[in-house]
Amino acid sequence: MSASAEYSRAEIVIDLAAIRRNVETLCTAVAAHADGPAVMVVVKADGYGHGLFGSARAARAGGATWLGVAERGEALDLRSDGDSGRILAWLAMPGEDFGPLIEADIDVAAYSTAQLAEIVAAAQALGQPARVHLKVDTGLSRGGAPRSQWQDLVEAARTAETDGHVKVAGIWSHLACADQPDHPANPEQEGVFEAALEVAEEAGLDPEVRHLANSAAALLHPESWYDLVRIGIAAYGLSPAPAVVSAESLGLVPAMTVRARAAMTKDIAIGDGVSYGHTYVADKAMRVALVPLGYGDGIPRHASSVGPVQVRGMRSQVLGRVCMDQFVVEAPRGTLAGDEVVLFGSGADGEPTAQDWADACGTISYEIVTRMGGIAGRAERRWTDDDGTLV
Ligand SMILES: Cc1ncc(COP(=O)(O)O)c(C=O)c1O
Repeated sequence: MSASAEYSRAEIVIDLAAIRRNVETLCTAVAAHADGPAVMVVVKADGYGHGLFGSARAARAGGATWLGVAERGEALDLRSDGDSGRILAWLAMPGEDFGPLIEADIDVAAYSTAQLAEIVAAAQALGQPARVHLKVDTGLSRGGAPRSQWQDLVEAARTAETDGHVKVAGIWSHLACADQPDHPANPEQEGVFEAALEVAEEAGLDPEVRHLANSAAALLHPESWYDLVRIGIAAYGLSPAPAVVSAESLGLVPAMTVRARAAMTKDIAIGDGVSYGHTYVADKAMRVALVPLGYGDGIPRHASSVGPVQVRGMRSQVLGRVCMDQFVVEAPRGTLAGDEVVLFGSGADGEPTAQDWADACGTISYEIVTRMGGIAGRAERRWTDDDGTLV
């Protein structure tokens, strides 16, 4: 990807065509199986830092029939942007007014009978039934009804459905260890999910979609697909299970590039300490470049002395501590202020990827892209598309 001549400090470039193609690739992969599931692309947290609207449009163009978000605001923003397809919003607070979501034709999740009662109250007030996805906790111990409360939730939902206040559109759960295909929690959770579906069926519920799989399960475990897969990180071109399979081998292309211009360059001598605490001391004379990004922009401080970069085609890395607004990297001789330092990108030109940053920092690629593009980040974001239809 060529650099924009315009940016002066740093920029984050989102390749929407890559997201669209990744989604096409994922849709094709699941469609290859008989009764292939529908695809939901998860665009929560501002599209994992890639931008809510661009990511959503690219996902729809790639074949996503559903979008998934955590918060109500994200769902309503998608409607304001003109998205008229199915959207599921799955995280609500006690006392939430579900009215605006129901009115905007957004599917909502119920984790408990108390929450279902709030949904029913809003639907009644509005005179419009809510489409609800009942969530069962099959073993993640995060959101969803515990098994002990599942029967009650199902029965309350059935009553509300008979009364015309809700339609149980979905029954769903979330896996804890999908990125470890051999983990015993996977079959255990599937077993609990099967039992929960039976309870629902016995109560007379007939959901349109049963869904369990995230990206890792969608890519590695067809038994977990049911009627819908919820794909997040893979849509952005990163592997959900890098220890098992690389993004490249899955045909996925990372969509986010982060780059900056050197604010200054200088030569340092052997023995010179670099950045706060002198945690790095030069073991040779070298050229260094000052990169005008720091943890105020979402660069993990854990990247200190390990974060990989590319300068003038040379791979090098952060020297010493990442500061709030800046860090120092080794640079080839001849590097000048204004030269480009690529932090990560698709990898096509030999630059590091977000996965390389995650490996270096001891985290996951999800966190790298989400925090860089996130609201805390100060670097400008720019969206590109090779045929111009998405931006
Ligand atoms: C409930 C739910 N489903 C699906 C996803 C997508 O997960 P992934 O990005 O691993 O595909 C997430 C993301 O964390 C999630 O919270």
